Amino acid sequence: MLSTTDQQEILRRRTFAIISHPDAGKTTLTEKLLLYGGAIHVAGAVKSNKIRKTATSDWMEIEKQRGISVATSVMGFDYTPTYRNKAGTTYHINILDTPGHQDFAEDTFRTLTAVDSVIIVIDAAKGVETQTRRLMQVCRMRKTPVMVFINKMDREGKDPFDLLDEVEAELGIKVRPLSWPINSGQRFKGVYNIFQQTLDLYQPDKTHVTESIQFEDVTDPQIATLVGDSDAAKLQEDLEMIEGVYDPFSIDSYLAGELAPVFFGSALNTFGVKELLECFVHIAPSPRPVVAEEREVKPMEDKFTGFCFKIHANMDPNHRSCIAFFKICSGKFERNTYYTHVRKGQQMRFSSPTCFMAQRKETVDEAFAGDIVGLPDTGNFKIGDTLTSGENLHFKGLPSFSPEMFKYIENADPMKQKQLDKGISQLMDEGVAQLFVSQLNGRKIIGTVGQLQFEVIQYRLEHEYQAKCRWEPLQMYKACWIESDDDAELEMFKRRKPQYMALDKDGRDVFMADSAYVLQMAQQDYKHITFHFTSEF
Ligand code: G4P
Repeated sequence: MLSTTDQQEILRRRTFAIISHPDAGKTTLTEKLLLYGGAIHVAGAVKSNKIRKTATSDWMEIEKQRGISVATSVMGFDYTPTYRNKAGTTYHINILDTPGHQDFAEDTFRTLTAVDSVIIVIDAAKGVETQTRRLMQVCRMRKTPVMVFINKMDREGKDPFDLLDEVEAELGIKVRPLSWPINSGQRFKGVYNIFQQTLDLYQPDKTHVTESIQFEDVTDPQIATLVGDSDAAKLQEDLEMIEGVYDPFSIDSYLAGELAPVFFGSALNTFGVKELLECFVHIAPSPRPVVAEEREVKPMEDKFTGFCFKIHANMDPNHRSCIAFFKICSGKFERNTYYTHVRKGQQMRFSSPTCFMAQRKETVDEAFAGDIVGLPDTGNFKIGDTLTSGENLHFKGLPSFSPEMFKYIENADPMKQKQLDKGISQLMDEGVAQLFVSQLNGRKIIGTVGQLQFEVIQYRLEHEYQAKCRWEPLQMYKACWIESDDDAELEMFKRRKPQYMALDKDGRDVFMADSAYVLQMAQQDYKHITFHFTSEF
């Protein structure tokens, strides 16, 4: 049994990611949350690690910046809420950073396997954008509880009701506003916090909430004195509409990933951020159970278990050292204790595991379910690897998604074939891209989310493995993982379409459709075969 103190440690953990389309304000919001937590004292500390927009075509620069950002991969801090916190609980918050650049979207998908909840940031003027849609798809699959922060209310934005409709329709989740804005842009006066029943008045150019006034009721005449008659009337009308149209907020529906509470604010102006944080610690889940192939693992179990969701390679070619990031699923992790590396069947112990406190990375003696530990690694770990106190467990990873871009990878230096093969295999284990092998001619195909990943692979092969590669164009529409109850039909399909068939890195059959038409025809002709756009079904 875990001691009561250890159990309390687990219960006070809140591990989440902030996700958004680039530029919606994820970095700014992260920074403001850290400021509230007292984890950083200067605005700009996180921003300096952000991939700069001007550098988007220069991926080396991006990698350098990513190198620096190891310390910000996880940002941990303690926070004691002021609202409804009679017991004086201090929460331990772990924010997992996700790369903003969309070419690294796969990294973000994997990070989402390690969080217990998510905050989505949406730009009030732009509404729901592509990247948000894709990330939300992953949250839906995993039933991750989601909160929405509608940002940049200090600018002219879309109508809040329209925004809520858009979120519901495009992200496929029910919403419930827990705060409500009074106008936007130049006329933005503040938000009415439905959750706490306070009116927060906005003052432009201020870096903190200037006034927060408690009300029993939105009809209180003082509101009109503060914001003017017409805005007070409009607020009252809007709130009545909200009560009429939206289901009441239910924590259970939120925890089941069915309902997203929505907040409005302006991260840049530190407005609405504290309210978001206060509500977040109140309702967000403590570490949730994690499903392994064998069974469901509960955080409070006394034995340690964890899985690797990210490997951060060191860009120094002379030291092939990496940091493997493990999410602790149950129990307590202790330094210098032997754990089982399930895939290798080996006992391993770690003398310098690191935890992350805001900008610092420090060696820790123990860490708890919900935490992320960084383990120095020299090539022992792959994404999805499990560490346990002895049990033979396999945590289910995140399925691969059909990549967006495909190229043949060819050896450009015949003397270095071995190095190339090793490099490709290790980079794929690290999750840099996906590998498919054509069943017709054995050629290797690399699938990525964006052009940048091809450049990263080429550079790393050359500098870390002394191998040279060349890319050859490949016209490809989608990679589909296929399955059927009808084995005979599946075999016939594979025999008839050898030019379209490939194996993924785990040896699963993949149909590589070079056009939407080819896929459509295959679906039409082979009714018993299902074509999946993700590798797990
Ligand atoms: P991201 O991580 O999601 O990519 O977004 P980030 O926080 O970097 O914000 C993108 C831009 O939006 C930044 O401006 C940032 O200052 C601005 N921004 C964030 N929150 C707000 C807000 O509440 N109101 C307004 N008006 N702007 C906001 P930038 O000019 O692109 O960068 P910078 O020069 O400020 O660094």
